[in-house]
Amino acid sequence: MNDKKNIIDPVKLIKYYKLINHNLIYNNKAINRYKKDSFEISADKLDNLDKLKKAIHNIRNCSLKDNAKNMVFSDGNPRSKIMLIGEAPGANEDEEGLPFVGRAGALLDKMLSAINLDRKKVYISNIINYRPPENRRPTDEEIRRYLPFITKHIEIINPKILVLLGSTAMNSLIGDEVVISKMRGKWIEKNFGNCKTSVIITFHPAFLMRQPAQKKMAWIDLKMIRDKKI
Ligand code: URA
Repeated sequence: MNDKKNIIDPVKLIKYYKLINHNLIYNNKAINRYKKDSFEISADKLDNLDKLKKAIHNIRNCSLKDNAKNMVFSDGNPRSKIMLIGEAPGANEDEEGLPFVGRAGALLDKMLSAINLDRKKVYISNIINYRPPENRRPTDEEIRRYLPFITKHIEIINPKILVLLGSTAMNSLIGDEVVISKMRGKWIEKNFGNCKTSVIITFHPAFLMRQPAQKKMAWIDLKMIRDKKI
């Protein structure tokens, strides 16, 4: 008998898994031999994030990009089950190349710590990756241009919980016809490509700084996130 026949070539096996998009990693244990890829960042995930970053970096004829100092891609843990999305970078974020590092970011950090989370444990990005001049709201055209990138970003991270901070994130990803006062504080099941996730909308921290009376509503939303079984 030819023993070689029974030896599985690992290179071929990996190619096969990639081919069938298996998204599973092999586990030696007798039971549960195929274990879902939920704790490890797969090489593919980091690779995909890298490709996405490059694609954004290669955008042409975009005045936001041309006027910004840095691309603001993300912060936090790509393995996190919780992803938060804001609107667009401000001056501090543009300077540092990281989302939510200014005053709104300080409030966001406090909101997260109120439910025992910190920014290094969640994953944070924005609808738009470059700072709009004077911190103006991004135009519809700008949002349309960046929407495929943030949608892909969500798909790659594949969070169990997606928190949309403010109306821009909500209207861009859920639809124009909805208003935040009606939509906040509810779970919405939504698919982004292959990612099926539970979405919750809450107020943007910059709005809460202007309207502190609304913090009590944001607290309700935060407790929903804290208590969600994932
Ligand atoms: N506001 C946002 O929406 N995003 C940031 O990164 C900073 C402020």
